[in-house]
Amino acid sequence: MKNRVFSGAQPSGKLTLGNYLGALRNWVKLQENYECIYCVVDMHAITVWQDPKELAAQTRQAAAAYIASGVDPEKSILFNQSQVSGHAELAWIFNCIARLGWLNRMTQFKDKAGKNRENASTGLYVYPNLMAADILLYQATHVPVGEDQKQHLELTRDIAQKFNHDFGVDLFPITEPLILGEGARVMSLRDGTKKMSKSDPSEYSRINLNDDSDTIAQKIRKAKTDAELIPGKADLLEGRAEAQNLIGIYAALSEVSRDTVCTEFEGKGFGDFKKALTELAVAKLAPITEEMARIEQDHAYIDGILRSGAEKADAIAQPILKEVKKAVGFLS
Ligand code: TYM
Repeated sequence: MKNRVFSGAQPSGKLTLGNYLGALRNWVKLQENYECIYCVVDMHAITVWQDPKELAAQTRQAAAAYIASGVDPEKSILFNQSQVSGHAELAWIFNCIARLGWLNRMTQFKDKAGKNRENASTGLYVYPNLMAADILLYQATHVPVGEDQKQHLELTRDIAQKFNHDFGVDLFPITEPLILGEGARVMSLRDGTKKMSKSDPSEYSRINLNDDSDTIAQKIRKAKTDAELIPGKADLLEGRAEAQNLIGIYAALSEVSRDTVCTEFEGKGFGDFKKALTELAVAKLAPITEEMARIEQDHAYIDGILRSGAEKADAIAQPILKEVKKAVGFLS
């Protein structure tokens, strides 16, 4: 099978620095060597309540963020999930392949459903099956994601394997996750043990891709740290979650290792370090933020890209879906 990349992000809020460093930035690099399909996964977003007007605006904003980060609609396919009906069709078939026991082990469902599990949507529960369908609908071989998606990708492999085995076919590849670089796990600025997330109630926990320079500076200034100095080696940050996170963000933004950052700032306190981090973050993000704001204004442009991306995606998906239906025994 051809090497093909698929990935996506949910338009359930503003995209964050975590999305950028863990995913988007790697998507851009992969465009050079792979056929890439990048999706705004609006069907995933509605597993929790989304105001319809905001969902539409956030979908456009996510598409603008992809493009502003460097996803090139001439090179890659860019579309929103709900425009290609094959995602929902394959997800249903996978609902009948995945086992309850498999889904019961998904930690993200437990986190997202929280204490009031009985009130979570059934969509939230079967969400990983839809994610497997997103990937396998295109027979994607590689999926660039942040660390938090690892378990879902293992499930995708299990579903592919079980489908191939049950129906005696070799239709689905065993997808490789691509979890790349120091930015694979960006944590909250308020709590170094929690992931930086677009759905965190605290604005100060995250940097959004459309934050202006003053907001970025203020959020970094308020970020939680400790009173100790920066050691010469990253290993020595053990047990200092917030310190580790800020050093990690610096490393990811400047594309060097955490050890290199520690060597550079050895013996300094976080007051000085935060100033350097702010300068770096603003320098890297401001061009993206500006470009995003410009693109976001142009609804016709974004909608046109998403529509034509959906047509291209559908053209790849249809023959694969046909094979799937034949394997299952659906008449056509
Ligand atoms: P989502 O929307 O939560 O995040 C999009 C991408 O950003 C990565 N990411 C992070 N990386 C590092 N640090 C963080 N704090 C951080 N937060 C988010 C995620 O790992 C992801 O790569 N289920 C997926 C969306 C999805 C998908 C797919 C991804 C649906 N179908 C098929 C790949 C392939 C999700 O909720 O991502």
